[in-house]
Amino acid sequence: MKYTDLGLVNTKEMFKKAIAGNYAIPAFNIYNMETLSAVMTAARTAHSPIILAVSESALKYMGADMLIGLIRGANIQPQEQVALHLDHGDSIEACKHAIELGFSSVMIDASKLPFDKNIEISKSVAELAHAHNVSVEAELGTLGGIEDENTFGTTSYTNPSDVEQFVKATNIDSLAIAIGTSHGAYKRKNENEELRFDILEDIAKRLPEFPLVLHGASSIPQNLINTINEYGGQISGALGINSAQLRRATEMNICKINVDSDLRLAFTAGVRQSLAETPNNFNPREYLSAAKVAIAQTCIDEIKNIMGSENKL
Ligand code: G3H
Ligand code: 13P
Ligand code: ZN
Repeated sequence: MKYTDLGLVNTKEMFKKAIAGNYAIPAFNIYNMETLSAVMTAARTAHSPIILAVSESALKYMGADMLIGLIRGANIQPQEQVALHLDHGDSIEACKHAIELGFSSVMIDASKLPFDKNIEISKSVAELAHAHNVSVEAELGTLGGIEDENTFGTTSYTNPSDVEQFVKATNIDSLAIAIGTSHGAYKRKNENEELRFDILEDIAKRLPEFPLVLHGASSIPQNLINTINEYGGQISGALGINSAQLRRATEMNICKINVDSDLRLAFTAGVRQSLAETPNNFNPREYLSAAKVAIAQTCIDEIKNIMGSENKL
């Protein structure tokens, strides 16, 4: 399947504009009809370009045919500037599979491997992807964090002196860097922990105009945690990245910001509140509708207040 047949675009133009305009393209993770529908509603309401991120585990959960069927069903038009992106592809084969399915962008995450091996694999994926006009993201440095398949252990910040060689040798289109973000809902022990803007600044100087990516960038809205806990949940100690710091990062060549956990929280908050308020309801369409509303609202808030991508179509 060619991604253009699904109305999708690669990330080239959107990143170019985002860097020039000091904003970031939101990459929201999707894994079913509700998350896709809510993210598309948010993008369309806020007139924002968007990246639909699908992890390998999400692809397995939905099944490839189901995912592509859902994307087709979203009736996406090229002028809406929507990319379908493989998040944390962990092998050349996984990226190849995604390209064949109709993804317009892939991430090859070989960041756990030695530098030379990371270069070798990322370069192979870039060659493969570029032959289909598909964009490629790779990663240098490792994020910390507590989360299922994407737990990378302890953080090692990206070494700025590696980035020029890496980008030149691999020919990738964007680079994910580690400057203190982490996957999951437990990112910081206290409000005083800051992103390493010194590292970001150094990298941006070495790679002028080159698209940089922040993973693990959920802000973990406390209103969502409060709603979940008010309606029977038990989440404590969750703390995300400060929104103002994320916004600042978008002004410094971060042109893609990955958010998954915030949408998971919104989904859960919507479902819990709906079930608690209508205990006699057993129609899933009702509590899933509440989840969709909560996710769309969270995405719109972040598009406006963090990404700065509102009205950028
Ligand atoms: O960074 C990755 C995302 O949070 C995806 O997580 O593999 O559980 O879908 P997942
Ligand atoms: P969060 O866990 O901060 O939402 O990170 C998502 C992510 O990096 C997806 O690749
Ligand atoms: Zn990630």
